[in-house]
Amino acid sequence: MALKQYNWKDGPDLIQQHSVAKHRILQAYLAAYFKTLVSSPTQEEMRLTLVDGFAGGGLYVHSDTKETVKGSPFIFLEATREAEYLINKDRRKKVHLQVDYHFVEPDKHAHQHLDKVLREAGYGDLIGNGIFLHHAKFQDEADSIIEFIKKKSPRNGRSIFSLDQYGYKDVPTNLIRKIFARLPSAEVILTFGVDSFINFASDGKLTQRLLDGIGVPDVFQGRSIDEIKESERDWRLFIQSTLYRSLVENCGARHYTPFFIRNRNGHGDYWLIHLSQHHRARDVMTEVHWANNNYFIHYGGAGLDMFHMVGYDPVHDAAHLGQSPLGFEFDDVARRSSIAALNEHIPRRVYANDEGISFGELFATTCNSTPASAQIYRESIGRLLDEKVVQIVSADGALRRSAAQIKPSDQIVQPQQRTLFLTG
Ligand SMILES: C[S@@+](CC[C@H](N)C(=O)[O-])C[C@H]1O[C@@H](n2cnc3c(N)ncnc32)[C@H](O)[C@@H]1O
Repeated sequence: MALKQYNWKDGPDLIQQHSVAKHRILQAYLAAYFKTLVSSPTQEEMRLTLVDGFAGGGLYVHSDTKETVKGSPFIFLEATREAEYLINKDRRKKVHLQVDYHFVEPDKHAHQHLDKVLREAGYGDLIGNGIFLHHAKFQDEADSIIEFIKKKSPRNGRSIFSLDQYGYKDVPTNLIRKIFARLPSAEVILTFGVDSFINFASDGKLTQRLLDGIGVPDVFQGRSIDEIKESERDWRLFIQSTLYRSLVENCGARHYTPFFIRNRNGHGDYWLIHLSQHHRARDVMTEVHWANNNYFIHYGGAGLDMFHMVGYDPVHDAAHLGQSPLGFEFDDVARRSSIAALNEHIPRRVYANDEGISFGELFATTCNSTPASAQIYRESIGRLLDEKVVQIVSADGALRRSAAQIKPSDQIVQPQQRTLFLTG
């Protein structure tokens, strides 16, 4: 089903609950981002650029409650103000959040509406001076925004790009690759209409040219959609899995989360993909998913290989792990199934090497392919420790009695290999 597009010609348009969900996640992520990045008591300033590449018109009316709903540009502005207050309220040395905003919007009515509502909300003085409104397509402004960020933060290019496209065609993977290549600390939050993509594919309309244009040339792996439908038990899940791999590989980010915002109104689910270069950023986003579980669903497995397709049977595998057959819902059931799955998968990683594996390496090398957060890894390792399936050896050679304080440098080993590890 085609996605309804907004129209700001006559003022704020209607917005549905599943799009509001996206705002909650953005807000929660920004709050967690600031908290994580401003942790040192001596820090005086944090420089950051927030880019809303598909900004919209700034305000909506909720389709059910008819209340006014603020759009993503306001979410960005208000998240910074709130974070600055919360971070500084108990600090002696105040931190200044030096944040610039780029709001990009090609639609004339949306752009004008955004300008108007920002001025009405008191941001007029900042327009052109910290808040930059671009009446253009994101792909046409990306280079100049990247240069702005490089100039402002030459060392790390600290920035967050929200790329909230309507469907799946407006953000080709090479654009995201360029962001990461130029800005090492950039993060991207990408909306991807995966159900529309699959429906289009199912009608045979996704041509190779279109796939090349999006930058996911290998999604069908040389097969036709009919061949895939015939040979794959769950062909939609198969396409999700290959699409996800192709997308993240072609975007060039080291870490990513690909979970669905569920759409109870039946317009199709879409992905909110977070791409970053650091596993800590990935974990912050994963925690946001668990804390906002009513918005998310994930149709893959619970363990370390959530999109493992060979023989994957959502109904059977979900039942085996005590998971809802409807999907993984980031709730208590999902938490228990995650711990159960990690309890099976982590020992395999630990036992694969004589010296076991450090917690840091285990997390960094496996987190992309699991819905579990670092906290859930700790809980699983705690169980394995209680059951004497593994031991944890700290950097000074001492054995840890609990996994609660496990450090990235701690080594997780098989019990009988501890001596080998210590003498090796
Ligand atoms: C899903 S809406 C954005 C909603 C907004 N992020 C929010 O949460 O309030 C997508 C917006 O992208 C705009 N748009 C369409 N093509 C675009 C492009 N190539 N570059 C930037 N924006 C585009 C549309 O006009 C529309 O306002």
